[in-house]
Amino acid sequence: MTHTAVNPAPPTLEFVNVSKHYLGVEALSDVSLDLEPGEVLCVLGHNGAGKSTMVRLLSGVITPTRGVIKVDGVPVKLSEPRQAYTLGVATVHQDVGTIPLMSVARNFVLGSEPTKGWGPFRRLDIRTARKIALEEVHRLGIRGVQDPDQLVQTLSGGERQALAIARAIHYGARVLILDEPTSDLGVREANIVLRLIGQVRDAGVAVIFVTHQAPHALAVGDRFMVLIRGKCASTFKRGERTRAQLLSLMAGGEEMEALEAEIEQMRSNGSNSSH
Ligand SMILES: Nc1ncnc2c1ncn2[C@@H]1O[C@H](COP(=O)(O)OP(=O)(O)OP(=O)(O)O)[C@@H](O)[C@H]1O
Ligand SMILES: [Mg+2]
Repeated sequence: MTHTAVNPAPPTLEFVNVSKHYLGVEALSDVSLDLEPGEVLCVLGHNGAGKSTMVRLLSGVITPTRGVIKVDGVPVKLSEPRQAYTLGVATVHQDVGTIPLMSVARNFVLGSEPTKGWGPFRRLDIRTARKIALEEVHRLGIRGVQDPDQLVQTLSGGERQALAIARAIHYGARVLILDEPTSDLGVREANIVLRLIGQVRDAGVAVIFVTHQAPHALAVGDRFMVLIRGKCASTFKRGERTRAQLLSLMAGGEEMEALEAEIEQMRSNGSNSSH
C-alpha cells in the first residue's frame, strides 16, 4: 500500500494532560496544549488561575505531578531552569525579568558573559557586552535605551521587558514565555511590548503570552486558552470570540449561564407544580 501523507513535524512545545498539585491545592489540572513556531498562544485567567504555575513548569522551576511535557515531540524532564534554557525554552518571569541594580549591558549578558584573557586573567569583556546589548535592543526598535551602563532600575517598565525579551532571543530562544509582561505598564509602554511580541512571532519564535488583560491578548494572540481555578475552561482561535465573550469566559461566564438556566428551569418547574 502506498502512503503519500507527509508526517507533519511535531509541535515545538506540548503539554499532555499536565497537572500540578500542592498540599490541598490543584494549581493546574489536566491541561494539554501545543505550540508551533511563529505562533502566539495567550494564556488568560484571573489571580490564582494557575498561569504562573504553568510558566514555572515550562521553565523547569517545578515539575508536574502528572502528565508529560514534550519539546519537538520528545518527552523532557525539566527539573532545573538550565535544562529548559538549553532546549531553547526561555522564560521572562513575572516581576523578575531583570536585575534592577545592574547595568543594561551586565543584565543582557547575565549567565553567558563574554570574556577576554585566559586562566586566572579571564575576565568579563565589558566592551563586547555593551556593544551586544545596545545592538540587540536597538534591533528590536527600542530607541529609548542609549547608554549600556545605565542601571536597569532607571529604565521604563516597557524597556525593561524589552531588554529581557531581546536577551532571550539573542541567546537562541525558540520558545519564549512571558508571564504578565504588560500588567504594570501604561498604554504606551504596553504597546511597546505588544509590538515586540508580534515581531518575535514573525521571526518564527513560538510565544506563550500569559496575561489577565483580555485586550492585550486579543491584540497579538493567534490562539487563546482560558484557565479557571487550574482548569482549561476554553480554547479558541483568533477571531472566534469577542472581547466581551472573552471577559465573560474568564469570569466563568459559561458556568454562570448554565447555572442561571438551571435556576430558571427549577423556577418554572416550581411554578408549574404550585398550580
Ligand atoms: N508553592 C505553592 N504552594 C502552594 N500553593 C501554591 C504554590 N504555588 C502556587 N500555589 C497555588 O496555586 C494556585 C495558582 O497559582 P498561580 O501562581 O499559578 O496563579 P496565577 O494565575 O499566576 O495568578 P496571578 O494572576 O495572581 O499571578 C493558587 O491558588 C496558588 O495559591
Ligand atoms: Mg501569576
